[in-house]
Amino acid sequence: MPTSPKKPLVIVTRKLPEIVETRCRELFDARLNLDDAPMSQAALVEAVKAADVLVPTVTDRIDRAVLSQAGPQLKLIANFGTGVDNIDLDTARNRGITVTNTPGVLTEDTADMTMALILAVPRRVVEGATLLKDPRSHWTGWSPTWMLGHRIFGKRLGIIGMGRIGQAVARRAGAFGLQVHYHNRRRLSEEIEQGLEATYWDSLDQMLARMDIVSVNCPHTPATYHLLSARRLKLLKPTAYIVNTARGEVIDENELARLLESGAIAGAGLDVFENEPAINPKLLASPRVVALPHMGSATLEGRVDMGEKVIINIKTFLDGHAPPDRVHPAMF
Ligand code: 8YV
Repeated sequence: MPTSPKKPLVIVTRKLPEIVETRCRELFDARLNLDDAPMSQAALVEAVKAADVLVPTVTDRIDRAVLSQAGPQLKLIANFGTGVDNIDLDTARNRGITVTNTPGVLTEDTADMTMALILAVPRRVVEGATLLKDPRSHWTGWSPTWMLGHRIFGKRLGIIGMGRIGQAVARRAGAFGLQVHYHNRRRLSEEIEQGLEATYWDSLDQMLARMDIVSVNCPHTPATYHLLSARRLKLLKPTAYIVNTARGEVIDENELARLLESGAIAGAGLDVFENEPAINPKLLASPRVVALPHMGSATLEGRVDMGEKVIINIKTFLDGHAPPDRVHPAMF
């Protein structure tokens, strides 16, 4: 009787939606992480020594030290996530390892969350909601001068990074009556710019100094690390708000905390942090900050779609074709 060919060993580092895990089991020799415990660097080394395909997430640092221990059978890292700043792309390429990601399927969810923060912070939504639920607080009734925030309509929104998510934020922002401005490595085509009614700023510094709200929507790369440096953060108006649903590393978090504390920036809506899961305690304590635990793409639909992309990338690769979401270091 002919034996069926050995299935490739696919190691998945975190728990994924059940439907995705079931499909992985059907297709591959899948080693899943049913307990969802984050893997240590030592565990990641063991994984790359054995796996034909590794499926990491944002919580896994696939750095040079890990990759240098990879076995020759490891040919694909199919990242469960769009951002690939958790992977040393140059080392992967030098070792002949293909890297894929999951772009597109989390665009709308992340843009929704960005918009939620843009609305929540200036209007003090979380402060109001938390107050009512706090048994120690006592709401004595409405007052004309209580819980005053600031109007969104007509304000200037500066989007840093006008890729898929940045553009999805721009579409939403336009519907809320915000004036859309943006800074990007490359200017958008005239057609897209006009469709979004977006104003391009070649100079990030000049844009920052004039915005009421700034939204970070660019990937974290060596070029965008601390793009919002201490110097640049000081360019913001004292009435400005900053929202980040991209990566914490794009902002100098300690400086942001200092400026919020001194009132040099009006407020921040943060879904991501520089050293997750650690967060600068000043940010958490600040009444000017709405903080979320990296939830931008956290919808069941989004995570299932991401899983589907991961599977398509693995299948296509194993069938000998170029996977659709191949990442090239030059893209970032
Ligand atoms: C995920 C994200 O939370 O895809 C990304 O880049 O930031 C989020 O969608 C996470 O990265 C999944 O690995």
